Amino acid sequence: MESISLVAEGLHKKFGRTPALNGFDLAVPAGTVCGLLGPNGAGKTTAVRVFATLVAPDAGHARVAGFDVVRDADRVRGVIGLAGQHAALEEGVTGRENLQLFGRFHHLGAREAKRRADELLTRFGLADAADRLVRTYSGGTRRRLDLVTSLITTPPVLFLDEPTTGLDPRSRNDIWQVVRELAAQGTTVMLTTQYLEEADRLADAIAVVDHGRVIASGTPERLKAGIGTSVEVAVLRPADLETAAGVLGRLGTGEPDYDRDDLRVRAITRPGVGLSMPHLVRELDIAGVTVVDVALRAPSLDDVFLSLTADTATDTDTETERAA
Ligand SMILES: Nc1ncnc2c1ncn2[C@@H]1O[C@H](COP(=O)(O)OP(=O)(O)O)[C@@H](O)[C@H]1O
Ligand SMILES: [Mg+2]
Repeated sequence: MESISLVAEGLHKKFGRTPALNGFDLAVPAGTVCGLLGPNGAGKTTAVRVFATLVAPDAGHARVAGFDVVRDADRVRGVIGLAGQHAALEEGVTGRENLQLFGRFHHLGAREAKRRADELLTRFGLADAADRLVRTYSGGTRRRLDLVTSLITTPPVLFLDEPTTGLDPRSRNDIWQVVRELAAQGTTVMLTTQYLEEADRLADAIAVVDHGRVIASGTPERLKAGIGTSVEVAVLRPADLETAAGVLGRLGTGEPDYDRDDLRVRAITRPGVGLSMPHLVRELDIAGVTVVDVALRAPSLDDVFLSLTADTATDTDTETERAA
């Protein structure tokens, strides 16, 4: 298998007049976990469906393990697994039977299908639920079974479309554990999510998707370093506002913002600037500021998007100015 497992070049896909993919480019090295992070409607599922040969692109190319998703669709299907937000499980049979059925569907013999089912149920903590009807399962157990189902054929490439959306924290952790085990075995995983934290914990590289294209990509550390931490300092006296703003500026934030009425100064650290709470408090103290409250907040998904879309808007403005 080639060392780049998933490649998309200039993918376009419209549904009616809606452009779901609009120049989507991506390269995912074999054996890594790629997180596609983006808001609802960004085009994540469409991208996954193109890779999984369920939707043909209007333009552009995509390859999985070297096979073209249109010309070699059958061979692509032979190397991938897909698990989604809307689990496709048989409700009226047990979890164990679901796995066996799926194995038979993928041409495993009856005995091998049973062996794989038993092995996976034990390995992923589903042994207790295995002999209950799927319709009695909780959301988390259902999602876990769906994920495990996609493993029965041990595909080298696995797509997980929002595997934890709507799950409670405990079930989310269970799913994360499964993904980590897969990654440790060398499976290439493409995971879509709306949660920065999830991408952060699982992905070797994150591709931020918005309006049908990848607008930023890199390791979680790199993306976060590009955004900055928000800082908020509440002071006792109006006279402290300017002093506190001065301290923040010296410590490497962008232009601080303050409001005389609520006695708070707010700023965002410049990309790459680390700011620790003890250091900040000490500097404020040395400057003679009487602090009522200090908050440092790591970037959230909202911050990533605000910052990235603000950059896009600026670029477009500049281009328009140049053109004018
Ligand atoms: N089968 C479809 N028919 C019509 N519109 C679709 C279809 N699938 C996706 N879209 C539209 O394409 C855009 C991207 O959708 P999708 O790929 O599902 O985004 P995401 O998974 O990031 O939420 C959305 O505007 C969505 O409404
Ligand atoms: Mg989706």
